[in-house]
Amino acid sequence: MMASSRKLNILGIESSCDETSVAILSDEEVKVNLISSQHFHKAFGGVVPELSSRAHLQIIKPLVDSALQSANLNVNEIDLIAATAGPGLIGALLVGLTFAKGLSYSLNKPFVAVNHIEGHIFSGFLMDKKPEFPMLVLVVSGGHTLLLYVESFTEIFLLGSTVDDAAGEAFDKVSKLLGFGYPGGPQIEASAMKGDENTIKFPVAELKDEYNFSFSGLKTSVLRFVQKNYDDENIPKSDLNNISASFQKALVDALVQKVNLALNNHKVKSLSLVGGVAANQKLGNELKNLANKYKIPCIIPSMSFCGDNAAMIALRGFQLNKSGVIDNLRVKPYSAIPENHFLKLS
Ligand code: KG4
Ligand code: ZN
Repeated sequence: MMASSRKLNILGIESSCDETSVAILSDEEVKVNLISSQHFHKAFGGVVPELSSRAHLQIIKPLVDSALQSANLNVNEIDLIAATAGPGLIGALLVGLTFAKGLSYSLNKPFVAVNHIEGHIFSGFLMDKKPEFPMLVLVVSGGHTLLLYVESFTEIFLLGSTVDDAAGEAFDKVSKLLGFGYPGGPQIEASAMKGDENTIKFPVAELKDEYNFSFSGLKTSVLRFVQKNYDDENIPKSDLNNISASFQKALVDALVQKVNLALNNHKVKSLSLVGGVAANQKLGNELKNLANKYKIPCIIPSMSFCGDNAAMIALRGFQLNKSGVIDNLRVKPYSAIPENHFLKLS
């Protein structure tokens, strides 16, 4: 633990997928949050792991240098280094993690390995209006869909998760089959805004396991609908917009329904919507309306803190370090959330 009354300069590094990000925080205040997105993956319709690692490797050092410059700091003034250790693409994670560990060793400054999902979970705390515990958190990203009951910075209970595709993954796959590009979320959302969401009723699986989600059936029913009604790649624009809107409605309804159930069963002081899909306005608006009914605030990070970013990693590193965590430099990257990483409500 660092006993100091002066504010700490925290350097955060994120490289779990297709964003290289470097942030500098002064305690909880974000001084700089640089994000370099690997747009070239679009040409492949998804993230190519090997290309991702190489791009991280090229940009990491210049990005750290420009972050220090923007924050007007010398590297020796960094007090704590935090980097994403997983889950994510191993080769991509290795780049940021190894860089951070090397920096920690050479500067002789403490290092904290951060779980990327925990970074998202607490990203609402980057906003001026902070969430209050206990809080309910919906994490919706390209790789994960989790519903969590969070009692404190160290007590995180998993209520449910997706049994197949993640919410963002469903957006990306449907986007691909409708002929939009990658990433799909923003393009489906833009198309949906021009369509009528009540044209087609796409079914969403009702799972017995009350807080779990399933989106692969929804994706298949969109595919079936397209195959049945159109010749390949020959969907009129207005129909495309209606399909996008109807798909988005089905997915958002399924998410909102589970959050409603959880709010019914657990008394919480705030709701937080985080992860890349939290940028979706329909989802955000519906969860804000729902939170209003329960008379609690719904906290959604601003755009640059919804998608992958190092500010949330630095913040989580700071929180962990405050509670005494310092990791040793033997930490290895991991691709999936470790089994039983989150607590279970009995
Ligand atoms: O958290 P994130 O940046 O990366 C992961 O950790 O996965 O999330 C990326 C996901 C992608 O699947 C992308 O399509 C989705 O977030 N996304 C959206 C929107 N913006 C990004 N989904 C729906 N609506 C959006 N506006
Ligand atoms: Zn993420």
